[in-house]
Amino acid sequence: MSAYKRITVSPVSGALGAEVSGVDLANLDDETFDELYRAWLAHQVIFLRDQSITPEQQVAFAERFGDIHYHPFMKGLDKHPEILEIVRQPGDSYTFGDVWHTDQMFTPTPAKATMLYALETPDAGGDTMFTNLYLGHDTLSEPMRDMLKNVKTWNSGNSPNRSDGRARLDRYGGNAQMSAKLKDPGNQITETAHPIIRTHPETGKKALYIGNHTQSLEGFADAEAKPLIDFLMSHATRPDFTCRFRWAPGSMAIWDNRCTQHLALADQITGQRRMHRITITGDKPV
Ligand code: SIN
Repeated sequence: MSAYKRITVSPVSGALGAEVSGVDLANLDDETFDELYRAWLAHQVIFLRDQSITPEQQVAFAERFGDIHYHPFMKGLDKHPEILEIVRQPGDSYTFGDVWHTDQMFTPTPAKATMLYALETPDAGGDTMFTNLYLGHDTLSEPMRDMLKNVKTWNSGNSPNRSDGRARLDRYGGNAQMSAKLKDPGNQITETAHPIIRTHPETGKKALYIGNHTQSLEGFADAEAKPLIDFLMSHATRPDFTCRFRWAPGSMAIWDNRCTQHLALADQITGQRRMHRITITGDKPV
């Protein structure tokens, strides 16, 4: 018998992710939301199709998950500062979010959830990938898990990217619309240590909590930390731990940053891609 009465949940890969139907975000009752939230915790990222919502409705839906998190480095919409508009044009050489990461890992209370709503999508290109960090943890050998038990990562919001060696402000030059949104974080904390193995506060499961914001491991020499981080990143993003989502206008993805990483594919797009993103504040990882 299905665990759900109001929604239909169809997994999209063997690792994580499910498409959920039977939900109209413009008219969402509490019972349907409770089922959707349960499916979200179980599948780590859920995908809805054919939604039609206003920015106000997206904010109201987001607030069911918790308090809105404002990006330290990026400005939201003038009328809806809760919403970061992500835009890419064909020919842009910078894609926002094009490395494996988990949102706002560089803050003391990183994002719990992120929801991305598609307004305009290209006919081809611009998919998003997700990976399951519970699998990343559970498939490590016991001696490796033991070694990592008390290890902390050091995470930075504006250090040179490990893949291209450029800091945030330098990377955005190839995308005029995103670089216009950059802002100074002021006195907000944008560098933080977190346990590399974290326990999910709602499911109780352990996850390998690492992402592209991770720069070093506390107490380790750089020569020790770098190969270990490189290994753990490639382990965490093994193809068999991932799923991939193809967008269409009206699609919504909601992911759990406490147990996933994601990556916006920087492939060629055939038309403008425009998305509305809202992020929800999480707990201090333990
Ligand atoms: C992000 O990292 O939030 C962007 C994901 C995307 O645009 O697909």
